[in-house]
Amino acid sequence: MKICCIGAGYVGGPTMAMIAKQCPQISVHVVDLNQTRIDAWNSDSLPIYEPGLDAVVREARGRNLQFSTNVDEAIAAADMIFISVNTPTKTFGMGAGRAANLEFIEKCARQIARVSVGHKIVVEKSTLPVRTAEAVKLILGNASSDASFDVLSNPEFLAEGTAIQDLLEPDRVLIGGESQAAIQALADVYSHWVPAERILTTNLWSSELSKLTANAFLAQRVSSINSISALCEATGADVDEVARAIGTDSRIGPKFLKSSVGFGGSCFQKDILNLVYLCEHFGLREVAAYWEQVVSMNDYQKRRFAQNIVKTLFNTVSNKKLAIWGWAFKKDTNDTRESAAIYVCRDLLLEHARLHVYDPRVPESQIRADLEHVLQDENGEISPNKAALLQNVTIADSCEQAADTAHAIAVLTEWDEFRELDFERIYQRMPQPAFVFDGRNILDRTRLETIGFEIHSIGRCHQRRRLADT
Ligand code: NAD
Ligand code: UGA
Repeated sequence: MKICCIGAGYVGGPTMAMIAKQCPQISVHVVDLNQTRIDAWNSDSLPIYEPGLDAVVREARGRNLQFSTNVDEAIAAADMIFISVNTPTKTFGMGAGRAANLEFIEKCARQIARVSVGHKIVVEKSTLPVRTAEAVKLILGNASSDASFDVLSNPEFLAEGTAIQDLLEPDRVLIGGESQAAIQALADVYSHWVPAERILTTNLWSSELSKLTANAFLAQRVSSINSISALCEATGADVDEVARAIGTDSRIGPKFLKSSVGFGGSCFQKDILNLVYLCEHFGLREVAAYWEQVVSMNDYQKRRFAQNIVKTLFNTVSNKKLAIWGWAFKKDTNDTRESAAIYVCRDLLLEHARLHVYDPRVPESQIRADLEHVLQDENGEISPNKAALLQNVTIADSCEQAADTAHAIAVLTEWDEFRELDFERIYQRMPQPAFVFDGRNILDRTRLETIGFEIHSIGRCHQRRRLADT
């Protein structure tokens, strides 16, 4: 059996490495147009940071796992072709800002149609709007050769930072399709390590829609608890206590109730907006408005965090040094797509703050590219005034360096290393009062307050307000 995967990104790379590791008899070829990315997959320095990924790749690469840019060759040789390319939000034309841009999917389908001979199983691994398989089938059905195809939907549910564990022991593998033989062929791949009862099969459309729905429900939980965090700050309740109290109800459950500066990542916002667009397309305005609010609440949470910093620092951060701890959208990944840090820092730069940013995994070039992108106007240009703001950004080598002489520290990613620092020393090197804005509620608040910090957490009254209350 030969598998090809088009797209060597955060999904294609780890999922195929896991299949290759678990199924030594299957040959897995991952292809991408991006030569730099492929070179990195073939090197000791993989293009994505994911705990445990190195070992999985090392075990299979060169045995039954290869990475290359030979897309045609890999498609032609494969029995099963996974499409795992990006499906970002459209930035132009019809549906701009909401619909998924499916141009990469269509290109893949056309390329598969062009080079295939014999029978192929084509698997949608990318997250797609419901009924995309219809278009894929239509394109494949018009292949000039006498090739034949079955199309399956097999969405991926891994989360970055825990991808290897998620792939090793998935809650479920979902396969949607029409042909029982094709569904069985894909189920046979997963059944090398996934128990049969965790392999769910549905029709194509249920599978496509389940992926968008799962992300929408997960993001909705985060927005729900974040909405309550604002009420906690206003009333004296503690959002982590509320989360614990409601999470013990087995009908609610404890996961995805961690209040934060806002969810990020390449998918939650993109997939909800896609869902909103689909609902509008089908005339379901109330349903669209319901889901759109999950994204609006997230925007509010990011904006509120930046505004709280400005207000607390006596209504001005102009020319003040602020330490930014964390840039990735969550810990244990180098991915920064839609990270809350980008939007919080944009707002602070517009208030003329001087930012000193430290992240253990994100390189300086990425941080600068993210900020440039978010300061651009709709024509993709950056005005001289905004370009000048970028000079107020310095990349630090450590938390301590970022915080040295800073008026405040803002924690934007929950990296473990931020918890255990010499906060006494950090405090002594900051002007007083020294502020901490913990956007992840990971720091030991009592300890920091004892040292002398004024700490502002998400969903909790800060000390000044508590003292005023008593
Ligand atoms: P990515 O941007 O990291 O990777 C996509 C890759 O596809 C890129 O390297 C790009 O060069 C390549 N590509 C695009 N068009 C191509 C073509 N025609 N031929 C060859 N290569 C091509 O994206 P990702 O994060 O891996 O996401 C891929 C899909 O999986 C998306 O639909 C996403 O919504 C979904 N998804 C992502 C995650 C995640 O954690 N990132 C989880 C589940 C599902
Ligand atoms: C998410 C889903 O969890 C995956 O199942 C899905 O496959 C993936 O999207 C996708 O389709 O791309 P991911 O975005 O990698 O995975 O990471 P999550 O752990 O879901 O976190 C997303 C964001 O929500 C992060 O910014 C995280 O910090 C935030 N979050 C998460 C919270 O603020 N609170 C929580 O309780 C949980």
